[in-house]
Amino acid sequence: MNVTLRQLQVFESVARHLSFTRAAEELYLTQPAVSMQIKQLEQQVGLPLFEQLGKRIYLTEAGEEVRRYAQRISAELRDLGDGLEALRGLNSGRLRLTVASTANYFATDLLAAFTRRQPGITFQLEVTNREGVIRRIQDNEMDLAVMGRPPEGLDVAAEPFMPNPLVVVASPEHALADGSFVPLERLQEEVFVLREPGSGTRNAVQRMLEDRGLHLRGGLEMTSNEAIKQSVQANLGLGVVSIHTVALELELGRLQVLNVEGFPLEREWYLVHRAGKRLSPAAEAFRRFILDEAHQHWQLPEIPGAVPSEGARLQAVN
Ligand code: PGA
Repeated sequence: MNVTLRQLQVFESVARHLSFTRAAEELYLTQPAVSMQIKQLEQQVGLPLFEQLGKRIYLTEAGEEVRRYAQRISAELRDLGDGLEALRGLNSGRLRLTVASTANYFATDLLAAFTRRQPGITFQLEVTNREGVIRRIQDNEMDLAVMGRPPEGLDVAAEPFMPNPLVVVASPEHALADGSFVPLERLQEEVFVLREPGSGTRNAVQRMLEDRGLHLRGGLEMTSNEAIKQSVQANLGLGVVSIHTVALELELGRLQVLNVEGFPLEREWYLVHRAGKRLSPAAEAFRRFILDEAHQHWQLPEIPGAVPSEGARLQAVN
């Protein structure tokens, strides 16, 4: 069987997305080029690897088998790359970093500070929500991840390095934005602009409220913190966001932090990698930099007004 690594890479991408179009986008190829690689691979294997039912494609049994091997081969190749990088040392190297969408507000500043110190190291930064970060860890497709809470049921090393308080924000026009204390139950009467399912921020808020037997009224749902901030500024509803995302809007007076019972919801940012993974020198240098120095290069925005006593704070079980 004369199979090329390129064919396996293209196949692995199509199998992961179950879509020729998305694989083409991911690999910066045209769709005919992707189809051609798959056709050639199927000729080599002698069996169809995908079947089409309606508009969707599925892996055949042979496809499942090829996928298992393709994943193993990619993992081996990545390990080979890491091993060679270790031999090259710190003067060069590429770091694959995946961060939760919310962490992107400080990740680039930290990368810039690190790059000034280690100019030979280059980065591939992927920004996705919590669910996406967990998938990347599962698939071993990154060196390090930054996320809000270590994933359960996955064997990972997770090290906290910076606080991540969540706050309730409103337009200054909103009726609750007069600085007075807002009991948690009161939030149930409000419309909220929330992140999508799969977001760590959304999970944390839901878990906190469910622990108190409370639910937020269904409101608007958005996949980006920027969209949430715009909507809250337009007074479409209240938002719950990490303080990292709203520093500028608070400074400019476009948003206001509400004094809600149990908030700020105390969380932490974690640096995560698969347990037992041999970190390349570049990844290890970045890890040490984050754990030892992140706080020097990124200042946590101040939370105006809302400073509840320790006892009044609900412990985040997020
Ligand atoms: P998110 O994740 O950007 O998916 O909300 C951040 C977090 O886990 O706190």
